[in-house]
Amino acid sequence: MDGPQHEPVLLRELLEAAAPTDGEHWIDGTFGFGGHAAALLERGARVLAMDRDPEAEQRAVLLRATWGDRLSFVPGNFSEMAAAAAEIGWGSVDGVVLDLGISSGQLDDPSRGFSFRWDAPLDMRMDPAGPVTAGDLLQELGEDDLVRLFAVAARPGESRRLARAVVRARQRGRLQTTGDFVAAVGAARPSRGRIHPATRAFLALRMAVNDELGSLERALPAALRLLAPGGRLAVISFHSEEDRRVKLFLREHLLRGPVEPSDAGESSEPEEGFVRQARFLPSEEEILRNPRSRSARLRVGWKKTREDL
Ligand SMILES: C[S@@+](CC[C@H](N)C(=O)[O-])C[C@H]1O[C@@H](n2cnc3c(N)ncnc32)[C@H](O)[C@@H]1O
Repeated sequence: MDGPQHEPVLLRELLEAAAPTDGEHWIDGTFGFGGHAAALLERGARVLAMDRDPEAEQRAVLLRATWGDRLSFVPGNFSEMAAAAAEIGWGSVDGVVLDLGISSGQLDDPSRGFSFRWDAPLDMRMDPAGPVTAGDLLQELGEDDLVRLFAVAARPGESRRLARAVVRARQRGRLQTTGDFVAAVGAARPSRGRIHPATRAFLALRMAVNDELGSLERALPAALRLLAPGGRLAVISFHSEEDRRVKLFLREHLLRGPVEPSDAGESSEPEEGFVRQARFLPSEEEILRNPRSRSARLRVGWKKTREDL
């Protein structure tokens, strides 16, 4: 594939833990550049790929030349995975993988406004047809709402300063581009070797523009319902708020001990849940090869099998 690329993170760990096999049905809700999807296909699985970014669909079309109808693509938010699966006639799946956030290709495209490395329009939408841009939020939210927006990624105590800086900049009419935003949050000069101060402000803004936590919170129960017995849910996150939500979801749905028949009688469905869950971190070798993987966390939940019922 020409053009920008994206190296799939925690791929070996995903394949070893979630063990996709020949003939299984998998959803890759974050197709991106197709790295995880290709690995699932290589293992013989059928893959339903989704992505909110229409550019991902073009790459999926190219990959179909290799994989034929074992690869399907349905555009949209992975929180709508049940409808997407129904669209191609799948009632349940053996695995769901979500690799959250944006791809290196999106980050490195100056026109998308995801990076403070270029002066670009304040957009940040994964789906360019999405209802709000970063510029809309920065112009329209009140100071308190901006504080809440930044709090998702900012350090404690930092959100109010960021919100005030935004309000001041827009009052002066100086908040049109990513460069204006960097200047407004007082982050033009990072101290050497430290994380750029605009990084957290950009991340919080991107997460709000794309309702990333909301999408994840809707997707987790949707995935659990869609998984067949023995199915695996694998989520890679790069941010502690996302990882915390995945951890809590897996913990809340972890079945403890043998499943008792419910009081409602034999015809009632047994409780849905996971029999096991585990967390995986990137190896030192992966971090050296791909520094972007440093903050990645993979969590896998194994849904109970028929024997566990
Ligand atoms: C980290 S990249 C995935 C990279 C991919 N695993 C690979 O190996 O190339 C995340 C991708 O998921 C998409 N995405 C993020 N959140 C999404 C959501 N809620 N629904 C659908 N796609 C989403 C982004 O547009 C981006 O293309």
